[in-house]
Amino acid sequence: MKTIKVGLLGIGTVGAGTFNVLKRNQEEISRRAGHGIEIVMVADLDVARAKELVGTHCEVVSDGNLVVSNPEIDIVVELIGGYGIAKDLVLKAIANGKHVVTANKALLATHGDEIFQAAQNKGVMVAYEAAVAGGIPIIKALREGLTANRIEWIAGIINGTTNFILSEMRDKGLDFDTVLKEAQRLGYAEADPTFDIEGVDAAHKATLMAAIAFGIPVQFDKAHVEGITKLEAVDIRYAEQLGYRIKLLGIAKRTSQGIELRVHPTLIPAKRLIANVEGAMNAVLVQGDAVGATLYYGKGAGAEPTASAVIADLVDIARLADADPAHRVPHLAFQPNAMADTPI
Ligand code: NDP
Ligand code: HSE
Repeated sequence: MKTIKVGLLGIGTVGAGTFNVLKRNQEEISRRAGHGIEIVMVADLDVARAKELVGTHCEVVSDGNLVVSNPEIDIVVELIGGYGIAKDLVLKAIANGKHVVTANKALLATHGDEIFQAAQNKGVMVAYEAAVAGGIPIIKALREGLTANRIEWIAGIINGTTNFILSEMRDKGLDFDTVLKEAQRLGYAEADPTFDIEGVDAAHKATLMAAIAFGIPVQFDKAHVEGITKLEAVDIRYAEQLGYRIKLLGIAKRTSQGIELRVHPTLIPAKRLIANVEGAMNAVLVQGDAVGATLYYGKGAGAEPTASAVIADLVDIARLADADPAHRVPHLAFQPNAMADTPI
């Protein structure tokens, strides 16, 4: 059995989770992948902490360029975040013929077209299951499980931090800042939590789901984005008294004018399933013309739930690594230029 060699960029919350789950379940994962999967090199700014995490299992460096240019490495896993160095390293990895796995929705929602095009030109795969709804395999569901459908709409709680904040404010009467700090401590929040609380992270994810579901280019700049910072405890209480819960929803919907893409707090009747999704859990409703309504639920953030999705991508790529590039198309986000510039 050939071993697929992986280089890891960033060993923070998700990187450490990925390293640990891969080590713990190595045997099953390798059997399912049909290949051994081994992290051989890690890049992180904090080399001492990274070495403490990985022990003697692999080489640790501070410069990600050493990972993306290492000829031994087959797959680069980008878990740094942001659009700066992460974009640079992902494009270099692709140019060097490496497959890429990333959890970086910010990067893909803003530069996805360029990255997927570069990957297609080079015949490598870019997989990003962890970028939307943490451990829930929603990318796979949209791309494969629901492929027979004309998707009509998607609506979801797709940011764990804000759902955690809204739940804790309602149930425990805690104030916004206290709960946000707890979400950061638990590893749910983005490095810059403004992205969570202002709805930007949810809009990144809704943008990616819309690209897959509707076959449109990645158009984050066209999304309507509204977070939860204007909500007060009294809003949550009044909603409760009227029989509703407030949830931050990401919505992508087919209309006669084009695709609607929006994120905003929404009043949902308390008896609905989605109104009862609490804490950092996520849930995504997808309406297809053939299947009807489907609901996907699970942990939307945190080290190991996200690692679960990162490793699923590694296994997928390992299974397809020797296949003809023409058979790897499902790993691209959308059919480029399928609809040139859909109005939103
Ligand atoms: P962290 O901040 O915990 O981890 C990022 C790691 O990358 C840190 O160890 C950081 O080092 C390191 N790093 C920063 N710059 C560089 C660099 N130039 N070269 C090498 N390493 C670098 O973030 P997360 O693990 O939470 O998130 C990683 C990605 O996963 C992000 O894109 C995020 O959006 C996404 N994601 C996160 C989820 C979560 O629940 N946390 C869930 C789903 C996706 P240092 O700390 O020293 O700066
Ligand atoms: N900050 C994100 C969230 C991480 O809270 O949902 C998962 O993408």
